[in-house]
Amino acid sequence: MALWGRRSLGALRLWGPGGERPGPVRAPQSPQSRVWRPVCAGADGVRARAATEPRWREPGSVIGGRRAISLSVGASGIFGSGGNSEKEKLSLQDIAELIRVRACQKVVVMVGAGISTPSGIPDFRSPGSGLYSNLQQYNIPYPEAIFELDFFSHNPKPFFTLAKELYPGNYRPNATHYFLRLLHDKGLLLRLYTQNIDGLERVSGIPTSKLVEAHGTFASATCTVCRRSCPGEDFWADVMADRVPCCPVCTGIVKPDIVFFGEPLPQRFLLHVVDFPMADLLLILGTSLEVEPFASLSEAVRSTVPRLLINRDLVGPFTWRPRSRDVTQLGDVIHSIERLVELLGWTEEMQDLVQRETGKLDRQDR
Ligand code: APR
Ligand code: ZN
Repeated sequence: MALWGRRSLGALRLWGPGGERPGPVRAPQSPQSRVWRPVCAGADGVRARAATEPRWREPGSVIGGRRAISLSVGASGIFGSGGNSEKEKLSLQDIAELIRVRACQKVVVMVGAGISTPSGIPDFRSPGSGLYSNLQQYNIPYPEAIFELDFFSHNPKPFFTLAKELYPGNYRPNATHYFLRLLHDKGLLLRLYTQNIDGLERVSGIPTSKLVEAHGTFASATCTVCRRSCPGEDFWADVMADRVPCCPVCTGIVKPDIVFFGEPLPQRFLLHVVDFPMADLLLILGTSLEVEPFASLSEAVRSTVPRLLINRDLVGPFTWRPRSRDVTQLGDVIHSIERLVELLGWTEEMQDLVQRETGKLDRQDR
């Protein structure tokens, strides 16, 4: 399945009705009319094991000395009936409690460029500060062209100039990345789906087995002619010296394994077919949910699974197709993460982790 920008919203229908194998179809232009239904069919059509509904307690009972979440109880347990009644509305505190008491243990996370802006890396679409508002210097026909193969083969310079600015060695993870690392360390992270190419999830210590870098990575590169693969470090010297990296075998241009518009997403992206039906909590952080097929994953969890959006503004289906168990925390991502960490009672652990990891990076930089 290919990466589509909003411009060429040829979104793929991630799942067909009734379990048929997914296949590329041209989706209607406006998200509202995007119609699809997730079915728990694995890549080979095997039904993914439905997550076992976690054990559950009466509201008001005490869990570990704390008030239990006053959610609806009953056969649907923690996930409620998915109804819209006010009493079922969840809060950030409820989400924290679900994580804290490990009522949710298969947390899937989707992130975008908004989690890296606190590290100093511009996102793409924030008016004024976003990358797409600051490409005048590259003399390109329209912003997304910088990530388009046709334009790249015609003129690779703008992309490599941008790559030099985004060089992973120039930036460090922030509290958001370390919160996700802590989620992993506590055995609660089922998978982290990232659109980011800055590699900060890896730098924060999240193992690649837990990562799906849906829009690729700078960690490796491929020759555009003979398809020879090479590790990222082989081409950075050229990029930092403002040279276009060329293949030592056939002199073709070497392109980092960043997914360009129209290119297929990495095979690992298919893990979503099993992960999302298994998830018992979905966190969506710092993304405009503008780009398919990644954006559609936001609706791929079961309808009764709580979804928490942490973002400056309301985006994607949280605006036009909200669900009864959605929680939205709008504003600065760091403030929201710090609030969530406080509600979880993880503040001290986070401080220790950040201190340890920062010390490691300082030693590497010496
Ligand atoms: N706190 C909270 N939200 C923030 C912050 C912040 N500090 N900084 C940015 N945001 C929000 C923005 O308001 C926006 O809603 O994060 C979102 C970032 O959206 P985009 O810039 O569109 O980035 P992203 O969603 O990752 O873009 C997806 O588009 O061009 C492609 O391949 C590219 O992977 C990228 C994809
Ligand atoms: Zn080559």
